[in-house]
Amino acid sequence: MSEKRVLLIVGGGIAAYKALELTRLLRKAGIGVRPILTKAGAEFVTPLSLSALAEDRVYSELFSLTDEAEMGHIELSRSADLVVVAPATADLMAKAANGLAGDLAATTLLATDKPVLMAPAMNVRMWEHAATRRNLATLKADGVAFVGPDEGAMACGEFGFGRMAEPAAIFEAILGMLQGGPLKGRHVLVTAGPTAEALDPVRVLTNRSSGKQGFEIAGALARLGARVTLVAGPVGLPTPAGVTRVDIESAREMLAACQQALPADAAVCVAAVADWRPDEAFGIKLKKGKDGPPVLTLVENPDILATLAAHTPTRPKIVVGFAAETNDVEMHAKAKLTRKGCDWIVANDVTQPGVMGGADNTVMIVSKAGVERWDRAGKDEVAMKIAQRIAQDLA
Ligand code: CTP
Repeated sequence: MSEKRVLLIVGGGIAAYKALELTRLLRKAGIGVRPILTKAGAEFVTPLSLSALAEDRVYSELFSLTDEAEMGHIELSRSADLVVVAPATADLMAKAANGLAGDLAATTLLATDKPVLMAPAMNVRMWEHAATRRNLATLKADGVAFVGPDEGAMACGEFGFGRMAEPAAIFEAILGMLQGGPLKGRHVLVTAGPTAEALDPVRVLTNRSSGKQGFEIAGALARLGARVTLVAGPVGLPTPAGVTRVDIESAREMLAACQQALPADAAVCVAAVADWRPDEAFGIKLKKGKDGPPVLTLVENPDILATLAAHTPTRPKIVVGFAAETNDVEMHAKAKLTRKGCDWIVANDVTQPGVMGGADNTVMIVSKAGVERWDRAGKDEVAMKIAQRIAQDLA
């Protein structure tokens, strides 16, 4: 990787300190870093720290005679293989989305012909503001890749989406973009979230799945270079960078969307598919009446994992299932592996605190080769390990 170079734009946010760690990781990997520090960025980290870690000079001014004499801003914008914006503040995103060019960072983003990766960082309300949503959609449509933001506690004391992705995750995304990733040219199908089974136009049967683990896996696969189709049940999570999302509600819709997405090299079924649905979805809202509550008759839903794993001409080479269990995890996972005909099962004990809807997971991988127990880790780490294992198995 020694010949690769990153142009790193450091915006003005508290997360700017993480750009220093990112610079260190990149340099350690032999990747060149040429930093642009915005005026606001310089309020949070010093040019000296950035320059020392980057082992290069820091560019800041659009109209600086020395900067322009040394390397004009157009040349600067094309001097790297990849432009990374970390932290990408709401202001920088807005400027880039609208083609403004009032300072060196914005001008560089407008003048570059290189791929751009942004790691947004801002207060949750700024992230959720309609203006930022619009800018994000515009930038995505323009081909800008994104990593993060994460959900968590913020420097401002609030909680939610807007925290910049960790330096290690940004580093991985950069590697994926520079190298093309081990899953380049592969198509992976991921199901995630719950399904909702209609009882009438206003009522559904559903479950508590958050969709987090499946979304993390889709994101990790994309970072390794795969083309990813994410078939998602009703969840409010943001679509991971570089992932094509198909939103569905019911298990039957999920199956149809999966079949439509085939062929795929691998399929990862993370969704908590409702096992049953009401035998009839009423066309009009059910009303309370003198006959008392309605009696529901349930019918079984199609098994998406088993259908994808069946020996058909379109069977993906690797089919991965999940097993959320409350007891005898290993025994149930082994039985599921055989019953569903998949290649491995990622099993977890959902009675452990913080797993359902939380950020961590403790899993074991059950395959014909045996059982592998992984240490408790963040869902993002578990996702990356699963993605890497898929890359290994497809190699
Ligand atoms: N699954 C699926 N379609 C279904 C049910 C489950 O694709 N209709 C997949 C899930 O995405 C998961 C795996 O099968 O990868 C295991 O799901 P789980 O609900 O634990 O399996 P069940 O067959 O429903 O077994 P159980 O009796 O434990 O509920």
